[in-house]
Amino acid sequence: MLDSSAKPLRLVTLLGSLREGSFNAAIARSLPDLAPEGVTISALGSVGDLPHYDADVQAEGFPPAVEAMAAAIAAADGVIIVTPEYNYSVPGALKNALDWLSRMTPQPFIGKPVVIQTASPGVLGGVRAQYHLRQILVFLDARVLNKPEVMAGGVATKVGGEPSVLEDETTRDFIAGQLAAFAAFVRR
Ligand SMILES: Cc1cc2nc3c(=O)[nH]c(=O)nc-3n(C[C@H](O)[C@H](O)[C@H](O)COP(=O)(O)O)c2cc1C
Repeated sequence: MLDSSAKPLRLVTLLGSLREGSFNAAIARSLPDLAPEGVTISALGSVGDLPHYDADVQAEGFPPAVEAMAAAIAAADGVIIVTPEYNYSVPGALKNALDWLSRMTPQPFIGKPVVIQTASPGVLGGVRAQYHLRQILVFLDARVLNKPEVMAGGVATKVGGEPSVLEDETTRDFIAGQLAAFAAFVRR
């Protein structure tokens, strides 16, 4: 039962993959089911809808997709970033979105609780992208949950269905535990 003192939370997901059959998207789709009571989770717009960052474009006005994403983050109690690792780092489309958002005033990540989940068909589950992302979030002044860390390795065998969702029970339980820890972190 929801503790009567526990404030309801609205979290948003930021997905680092544009791929239709994305494993990370399957995880992001599963999160509302894994959220603790009193926590709702919805998806932000696609990072693929943002143009490449260009200061000259910014000078003419922020693109509507950037404005919308910034407003949704500002209105949320916390952000869940779910992303693959590309070449040991953060996918360019996600980095591009963070670059745009970092130029907004007010900058929506300042003091914003953030939690990271990475997934890969490889064994390490995107650990190197995760630490690059943490470094970026330092500059953005986000408040990032340290532990537990979700790095889902071998993810191709852990998702299924149409549209695909996370089916592996051990990983589902682990992610549910992280979301509970994140909810407590946000409310602190
Ligand atoms: C350009 C590129 C670079 C990649 N680099 C890595 C990597 O450094 N580490 C890793 O574990 N997987 C890497 N992969 C494999 C991705 O983890 C895999 O394609 C994964 O399915 C992408 O996530 P998604 O299914 O959510 O789109 C790379 C894939 C691409 C396309």
